Amino acid sequence: MEKILINGGKKLKGKINISGSKNSTLPILFATLLTDDQATITNIPSLTDVDTTIMFLNFIGKNIIKRGNTIKTYPSVNKYKHIAPYDLVRKMRASILVMGPLLSRFRKVCISLPGGCTIGARPIDIHLNAFQKMGAKITTENGYVKTFVRNRLKGTMINFKFPSVGATENVMLSAVLANGDTIISNAATEPEIEDLANVLNKMGSKIIGAGTKKIIIKGVNKLHGFDHAVIPDRIEAATYIIAAAITKGEITLQKVLPQHLRIIIDKLKKCGLYITETENTIFAKWIKELNPQNIKTEVYPGFPTDVQAQWMVLMCLLKGKTSIIEENIFENRFMHVAELQRFGADIIINGKTVKINGVEKFSGAPVMVSDLRAGAALVLAGLAAEGQTIISRIYHLKRGYDMLEKKLKQLGADIRKI
Ligand code: EPZ
Repeated sequence: MEKILINGGKKLKGKINISGSKNSTLPILFATLLTDDQATITNIPSLTDVDTTIMFLNFIGKNIIKRGNTIKTYPSVNKYKHIAPYDLVRKMRASILVMGPLLSRFRKVCISLPGGCTIGARPIDIHLNAFQKMGAKITTENGYVKTFVRNRLKGTMINFKFPSVGATENVMLSAVLANGDTIISNAATEPEIEDLANVLNKMGSKIIGAGTKKIIIKGVNKLHGFDHAVIPDRIEAATYIIAAAITKGEITLQKVLPQHLRIIIDKLKKCGLYITETENTIFAKWIKELNPQNIKTEVYPGFPTDVQAQWMVLMCLLKGKTSIIEENIFENRFMHVAELQRFGADIIINGKTVKINGVEKFSGAPVMVSDLRAGAALVLAGLAAEGQTIISRIYHLKRGYDMLEKKLKQLGADIRKI
C-alpha cells in the first residue's frame, strides 16, 4: 500500500492553483443524467471520487469521457440502468445523488443503503421523506431502497428538518422535471448548491433562491445540454492557507473565490495571520506568533466541518494557549485526535467538544488516515513536525485532494510517496 513520507519543519513558500470543487463536481456529473444532449464540464479535479462517479455513470448507461480537467457527455446509445449497487454506494456516499435524476426522468431507482462511514451513520431519511412527499413510493428490502413513482413526480412544499447538502441537491435534481413547482424550506446554502442550480438553469430549468434557505424549482418537461466550469474547491483552499500558517510560511492561492472562505479568512486574521485577497487570489503570510480562536462547526456560511480537523492541528501548535472545538454536523468526526496525539498533541475529547492545550512542537510519527479531511490534518501535522512522518492509507487523500504532493512540493515541502 502506498504511503507518504514527510520530513517536516520546512516553511511553505510560493503559489499554487486551487482545483475545481469535488463537492460541486459530483452533483453536476449526476445532473448530466437529466438529458441526452452533450454536456462539457471544465475545471474538473483529478480525484478518485470523480473517477468513481464516471465509472458509476458509465455503469448506469451514460456515455461520459474525461480528458485532463474536462469531461464531455454524449447521447447514450443504450438503455439506462436504474440500480446503484452496494459496492459502489459503500465506496462513495455521494452516489445517492443518482436517485433524483433517475426518479424524475425514468420514474424508478433501486439504490443500496449507503451505510455509515468513519465520520458517522449518515442516514438518508431527509432525502427519502422528500421523494415521498413528491409522490414516490419507497420500499426497503435486503439493504436496498426501491423508489418508484407511477406517473410523474409532483412539485410540492418540502421543509427540511436539517439543511442537508445532499438532500437539497437530490431534491433539486428531481424537482426540475416534476409536474409543478417545488419549494424547499430550510435548504442548504453552500456554494456548491448555487453551482448546481446554475448548471440546472443552463439546462433549461427555472430555479430561484439557490444559496438561500428557500429554493423554488419550477418543473419543466425537458432539459438540454450545457457548458460549465466548476467553482474552485473552498475546502482545498482552506487546507493550504492553514498549511502556510502552521509552517510559518507564506502562500498565494490562485483560481480561488475568497468569498467562499469568508469565515476561515476572518478567523485566521483574528489569530494574527496576515491575509490579503483579490477577486480570485488569496495571499497568506505568517508574521507573528498566532493566538487561538475557538470554533463551532455549522452549516454554511458557518465554520465548515470539512475544515475542523485541519483547524485542530493549527490550534495544537499554539504553545501554551488553550482552545475549544465543537463539532455539530457529524457525530464522530474526531478520528484524527488519536493520530494527532502520536505527534505529541495535547487534546481532550469531551463528547462533541475537544479542548486543546497548545504544545511547543510535534515530533514526526507513523500515522494512519481514517477519512479524507482527517488525512489532510495528518499531512499538515507532518509538515509542521520535527523529523520524519510516514502516513499510511493515503487512498483517502486521493478522494479529495488533487495533486496534493505535487502542490506541496511546489511550495517547498519535503514530501514524497514511498
Ligand atoms: C456533504 O455531505 C459533503 N459531501 C460533505 O463533505 C460535507 O461534510 C457535508 O456535506 C456537510 O457540509 C459532498 O458534498 C459530496 P449532509 P452530505 O447531508 O450531503 C445528517 C467531504 O469531506 N443527515 O449535509 O452527506 C448527516 O448524518 C465530505 O468532502 C441526516 O440525518 O452532508 C450529517 O450528520 C465529507 N439525514 C448531517 O446531516 C439525511 O437524510 C450533514 O449531512 C441527510 C443528512
